[in-house]
Amino acid sequence: MFDLHQACKQLLYQNRRCEGDFQYTLPSPTSYPHQWFWDSCFHAIIYTHFDITSAKREILSMVARQFDNGMIPHMIYWKGPDEAPFHPIEWGKKGTSTITQPPMIAYAVWRIFEKDGDIKFIKSVYPHLYHFYRYLLTERDPHEKHLIGIINPDESGEDNSPRFDLPLNLPPIQTLEINTQRRMELIEKNIECKFDAPFCMRNFFWVKDVPFNCIMIENLRLLAKLAQNLDNHDDANYFLSKADCIASSMVHLMLEDGIYWSTYGEKYTKIKVKTWAMFAPLFAHILNQEQASKLVNDHLLNKNEFWTNYPVPTTSLDEAAFNPRGFWRGPTWIGINWFIYKGLINYGFTDPAGKIKESSVALLEKSGFREHFHPNTGEGLGAENFTWGGLVIDMN
Ligand code: GLC
Repeated sequence: MFDLHQACKQLLYQNRRCEGDFQYTLPSPTSYPHQWFWDSCFHAIIYTHFDITSAKREILSMVARQFDNGMIPHMIYWKGPDEAPFHPIEWGKKGTSTITQPPMIAYAVWRIFEKDGDIKFIKSVYPHLYHFYRYLLTERDPHEKHLIGIINPDESGEDNSPRFDLPLNLPPIQTLEINTQRRMELIEKNIECKFDAPFCMRNFFWVKDVPFNCIMIENLRLLAKLAQNLDNHDDANYFLSKADCIASSMVHLMLEDGIYWSTYGEKYTKIKVKTWAMFAPLFAHILNQEQASKLVNDHLLNKNEFWTNYPVPTTSLDEAAFNPRGFWRGPTWIGINWFIYKGLINYGFTDPAGKIKESSVALLEKSGFREHFHPNTGEGLGAENFTWGGLVIDMN
């Protein structure tokens, strides 16, 4: 019989690497042989179920390469870009990328603290978290509109999602090559901009993304709880009030007919492409019960949109951009299922949550620990020995 817990544990240990004093886990040894930011947050969450020391080490390696301005890069090349079998991307700085990813680190650290109450560990990482979230709150929101901006689609973690077609000026049907080329051009711009997000990069790509901001809200709340445990009540109040500000700004600038849409540019133009981002507000708990119920019934459980044989496809079936093998343009990703699962539990929707868990487990049993899956056939796609499947042990 398939021992899920054992399989997840084995995969994480198999992908774990040490570099000097640091330890981190590869998302996939063949396709992704470096450290990635939100992946490491996922890893830490998974490790809390069987190895709290590894959970902490995953966080410590990530913050070790924090920039002076507070940003935590989304990739660290511990072995150097040329030493691993991955086509090296020149981000303009040695050893790391120069963009970030969804800010899941306070969540991961809170989960570690919940498990063992190690206040010494919290004390050691809190300054890093403080400066990282302060960076996002200031540099990515220069005019205090209370929405955090991203400067490259990759910062969303959903590289070629159709949410970014409009700001990249691409049609719904496109190749991965052209999409990648556009994102590479943004990397070049970032180098020319000397990594200055608020004054320079915002002229080339400036998206207020729904999942990024929802993740920010939930993480600021947990950061406030961490600050509270360190008796730092001013910080706690500050971060909590920022979470509230983002939530109300989302209502003003993103919400329309019950759906939150990502926006781009100074005019906050809504990007009305249906992706799983519609369900991210469940994770941040910013909908009321009635709004949540309508969203779930009308869209998540709708067979013409998101309720496929193996939910949840990252793009709605009825979108022109939908492609069941198109990376972030259709396939089901277990990391995304984890966010939706947690969101459904926030509202007591245990039935669809249970179905998402069951189907995520079924995907692992059928196709192994693949990066993403065909939402109708369950066929495994993309990277192999991919760690995100391990999040099923946290669907509880
Ligand atoms: C892909 C994913 C991104 C992830 C990375 C490593 O680029 O789009 O979200 O962090 O792979 O797994």
